[in-house]
Amino acid sequence: MKNHLEKYLLNKIELNQKIPFSDFMNLSLYHPDYGYYTNKASIFGDQGDFITSPITSSIFGECISNEFINIIRSQKTSSILELGGGDGSLAISILKYLKKDNSLPDKYIILEISENLINYQQERVKKELPDDYNIVKWVTNLEDVKINGLVIANEFFDALPTERFRVKNSKLETLHIESNNQSFDYIWDKSSDDFVNELSRAKNNHNIDFPDGYISELNLNNSKWINLIDKSMESGVLFIIDYGYHSQEYFLHDRSDGTLVCVYQHKSNFDPLSNIGNQDISSFVNFSHLKNLSINTDLTVSGFLSQSSFLINLNILEIYQSKEYDDDEALIESNKLKNILLPNTMGELFKVLVMQKNIDIKLKSTKEFNQMKKL
Ligand SMILES: C[S@@+](CC[C@H](N)C(=O)[O-])C[C@H]1O[C@@H](n2cnc3c(N)ncnc32)[C@H](O)[C@@H]1O
Repeated sequence: MKNHLEKYLLNKIELNQKIPFSDFMNLSLYHPDYGYYTNKASIFGDQGDFITSPITSSIFGECISNEFINIIRSQKTSSILELGGGDGSLAISILKYLKKDNSLPDKYIILEISENLINYQQERVKKELPDDYNIVKWVTNLEDVKINGLVIANEFFDALPTERFRVKNSKLETLHIESNNQSFDYIWDKSSDDFVNELSRAKNNHNIDFPDGYISELNLNNSKWINLIDKSMESGVLFIIDYGYHSQEYFLHDRSDGTLVCVYQHKSNFDPLSNIGNQDISSFVNFSHLKNLSINTDLTVSGFLSQSSFLINLNILEIYQSKEYDDDEALIESNKLKNILLPNTMGELFKVLVMQKNIDIKLKSTKEFNQMKKL
């Protein structure tokens, strides 16, 4: 039995003969009624499919707050924009920490596409921060958003619908989805000239060739989002935090099946045609591509570092030591800390791209271990 989303997709494919993979991914995740993020009841945490750093530990958001405190020393108005609010954990940890420091922003804006998640985030923020609820505003697009302060995209870019490509007989082909006897199938089409040009941008001038049969991803949505963020940010700092690589690592010959990954109930698989509407689909972020796209904007790149280096620069160890935990809590909290910090967990796989605009301050987050030259 096909579910609503599968029926919808099959209909759409029948009308168009085939659809680009990015359309398939977009509808699987964000169809207004049946998409994974818009419709599924539990996505985050133990009962859901996956867990992110801000959900793992409030210390993650507390570290990020330290850069905001640094920024507001040099500017009068202060605002924060979070792209993709998830279960609301990041906003809650940041606002609680800033309140204690008497540094609450004038406004905290959450961009969220899913009505269900907006309701969930609103309930949680109302419960956890009843007196400061009115600082937080929800938007579904960035049209009228103006930010002077901090913009945070944690696990936002990996969730943007991507294209997949392969090299066949030295030519580039782009993945589409077709239907075959009421089921979904792959079909590869010659890539357009625009696609080929964008792929050079994603390589960021590095001399990278692909062997025959090589498959990878190119996210054409990166450009739109870098431009939208640039338009919304009057001044401040942008953190793009995600799992990913610089382009030379992204396009390693060994990574010949690409970076696309699906997650269902905390288990990974590589089949986006299974569990449609019930599993997450994401791809690793090519940070060199984001850097290259920022050249046409007023954003300038000021850092590229591992999540662990970023958090250490933002005083994660001092924050942890300042907490008063009893013995049981200390054990639980130190395990959470390890999860977001150690190289074999999220500490190394996750990277942070730091950009700034119209602001001249010494950033805390990039003060050491900056690997910007690798981009
Ligand atoms: C992987 S989750 C990460 C959630 C949260 N940032 C965290 O780290 O826990 C991606 C989030 O981005 C939201 N999202 C994805 N695409 C979006 C878009 N185009 N506009 C607004 N929100 C979007 C999803 O609904 C979800 O809340």
